[in-house]
Amino acid sequence: MPWNKIYQLYQELQRYVGWTDEDARRVAAVAGLVEPHVEGLIDDFYEEIDRHPEARKVITGGAEQIARLKQTLHAWLRDLVAGRYDKDYVSRRWRVGLRHVEIGLSQVFTNAALSRLRRGLVDILDQTWPGEMSDLLATRRSLNMLLDLDLAIIEDAYQSEFSQRQQRSDRLAAIGQVAGGVAHELRNPLNVVKTSIYYLLNTRAPAPEKVKQHLERIDRQIGLADRVITALSDFARLPVPELQPVVLRDCIQEVLELNPLPEEITVTVDLPASLPRRMPMLPVPDWGCRGRP
Ligand code: HEM
Repeated sequence: MPWNKIYQLYQELQRYVGWTDEDARRVAAVAGLVEPHVEGLIDDFYEEIDRHPEARKVITGGAEQIARLKQTLHAWLRDLVAGRYDKDYVSRRWRVGLRHVEIGLSQVFTNAALSRLRRGLVDILDQTWPGEMSDLLATRRSLNMLLDLDLAIIEDAYQSEFSQRQQRSDRLAAIGQVAGGVAHELRNPLNVVKTSIYYLLNTRAPAPEKVKQHLERIDRQIGLADRVITALSDFARLPVPELQPVVLRDCIQEVLELNPLPEEITVTVDLPASLPRRMPMLPVPDWGCRGRP
């Protein structure tokens, strides 16, 4: 899903749960309270994973990977209470779901782990809160909303990546079946052709009507193989790109959104001012391009 769509979804969910700037301010205000206890929360997170073989099995890189994961979780927690819930924040959350599909972690463990983290964070607030009880309750509520939003995005990413992979593997399985069928359909006529050629090459002075019979048989079998191949290429025909005038800048933007680059890479789009706003007739693929005027 393009990043701007994901961000729009996040904003819609924020409205749904009633999230406001005041909630963001409240959560950001507890960063200092949480930070001294973060190491403990993270250790608890990984100790618990170790008690559950189905969760533990996705950690295949030993102590080195756990050390890296601890840093990742620390960054995630810091981000959580940094008070900036913008497009970049949401894309980082989305990536968690994608990564978990890649490593084969079942989403239920993320839900359980988040529940454990939530409890840990709430305990820290309860035990260290310096102010009024009413403020503590309001902050807890904001934090819970934020965690729910995080989980919703991670889970949505997980589901959409999971189903895309499922569709890809179904397609591959279908292609495998078709290939098997085609191999079978082609092998029969080829065998017949081979037998007739063998006869023609190795029979001394074959009768003319025999030669004719074999040549006709070869011709029929070639026709059969040709029909199999035509049926296959009709089945696999790709949509022909359509020529459309496009707004190049929008098109580049869309391609970048659909193919996110690592954060450390910055893309500068520098189009000469003399370039016409609408580029005449570029081939536009079947899925379209927002750059279409
Ligand atoms: C609250 C729940 C969780 C959060 C917030 C979380 C967060 C993250 C983040 C931020 C990443 C890095 C994503 C990226 O590459 O951009 C990640 C990757 C990963 N997570 Fe989780 N995670 C959670 C639950 C779990 C659980 C329960 C496991 C179970 C073992 C797990 C195992 C992993 C592994 C193995 C990776 C790949 C790390 C690597 O690249 O070596 N996560 N997670």
